[in-house]
Amino acid sequence: MRHIIYLLILILVCMGCIATDEEKLSWEEMNASKEETREWFNDAKFGMFIHWGLYSIPGGVWKDKKMEEMGRPHVAEWIQYVAHISRDEYAQLASDFNPVNFNADSIAKLAKDAGMKYLVITSKHHDGFALYDSEVSKYDVIDATPFKRDIVQELYDACKKYGIDFGLYYSHNIDWMDGGDCQYSVIKEMNDQEGKNTVIFGPNLWDPSNNSFEEYLDEKAYPQVREILSKFPGMTTLWYDMSRYMTPEQSLKFYELAYKYQPNMLVNERVGNGYGDFDIPGDNKIPAVPDEITKPWQTVGTLNNSWGYKSYDHDWKSVKELLFWLIEIVSKGGNYMLNIGPDALGNVPEESVDNLRAVGQWLKVNGKAIYGTNKWRVTHEGPTVIKMEGTKKRQEHGFKIDFTADDFWFTCRDNRVFAISLVSSSKEIIVRSLSDTEERVKSVQLLGTVEKLEWKQTNDGLLVKLPEQLPSEIGYVLEIGL
Ligand code: GLC
Repeated sequence: MRHIIYLLILILVCMGCIATDEEKLSWEEMNASKEETREWFNDAKFGMFIHWGLYSIPGGVWKDKKMEEMGRPHVAEWIQYVAHISRDEYAQLASDFNPVNFNADSIAKLAKDAGMKYLVITSKHHDGFALYDSEVSKYDVIDATPFKRDIVQELYDACKKYGIDFGLYYSHNIDWMDGGDCQYSVIKEMNDQEGKNTVIFGPNLWDPSNNSFEEYLDEKAYPQVREILSKFPGMTTLWYDMSRYMTPEQSLKFYELAYKYQPNMLVNERVGNGYGDFDIPGDNKIPAVPDEITKPWQTVGTLNNSWGYKSYDHDWKSVKELLFWLIEIVSKGGNYMLNIGPDALGNVPEESVDNLRAVGQWLKVNGKAIYGTNKWRVTHEGPTVIKMEGTKKRQEHGFKIDFTADDFWFTCRDNRVFAISLVSSSKEIIVRSLSDTEERVKSVQLLGTVEKLEWKQTNDGLLVKLPEQLPSEIGYVLEIGL
């Protein structure tokens, strides 16, 4: 009898009626199938990140104490962790969350005006609170707040209207409300056995929920990820975060879920354990040697020094600094996703709006050197040494770089190279990477103008005379035909 059953199973398998392990796609196969979206990603270059949630109410201050007086990190969305706020007390913020000034249309339009091609908003951050209407958990904007509007849905619709591609952030490992200790103790035990150290960063050890991490995954995280993937079709990126205490099996499951519902969508590396489609060199970090990164990559950055709204952080990056981040990243082959943090009423801080619009103005004139371009053989020439090593360093040291007229960043497309400068004062310049011993230059054009330029290629480089009047307020771009 047993033999007959085995035989039957074998026949069914051969006929394709029973799925075998072989049929399950490997990560490599799933990843390889996303070529079209990778091209989209490379062309898009610039996107908007939005961190928004209950933490915008305290805005970095808890019971008269600023985050800096309580612990690290100092980014406002971590206030529950830093101030060890119990789950019950923190959840009460929901009854005060009523951002009546929130206007999805104006945020999507702001992204458009800033020259951004896509947008990613926090559907659920580490605090566990969902900004969309979740059937899985009542800890969401519809059930727990007086606002009762689906923020994610409104933005999704507004992005459609303005032709901005849509993506979501989802904190899968860290959930201070429902994730127990975020699997910290399990991972610690495993590491202890191997004699490895376990860093404590992010788990809820002050007031963890009673359930196990597996229960959290099965009852909240996986279902919510399924939910967002079905509610918001056509997403271009899914942004998981902080996979520190995640096993490879769990990371792969989150990747597979994404693939099952939206096979073309790119998943970031913070899904964990090497399963991402694109890399994140770090928060406010630009890789020194981009060639070490083999996947597409994206630097995420803040406009001040916090992701979530922080009432007393006025250290806004200037327009010139933002342009620097963008061109430094793009010249190295990466994407830049720049964050806004709306306040508790839904307003986007004015300084960030003004600066983003100014970046957009620059891109209107010079966008040809950014969108759809690639890394050239030289990414930057000139004396300025630039290191961008993370949120904390940028906050502590500020941005004191004064670029010179000899600093150029490069991008390329087909047979054209773009030389980008952030200095407007010089009238005669030299691009040293384009001496006549390198390539033969056929044409030189100043982006945003139609007039002919005087130029000459010598042994030292490409000499160009610039006109009195430049088309952008900050710097200029030369389009060089080879
Ligand atoms: C970090 C932080 C988080 C922020 C994110 C942005 O992982 O935990 O608060 O959302 O970086 O990249």
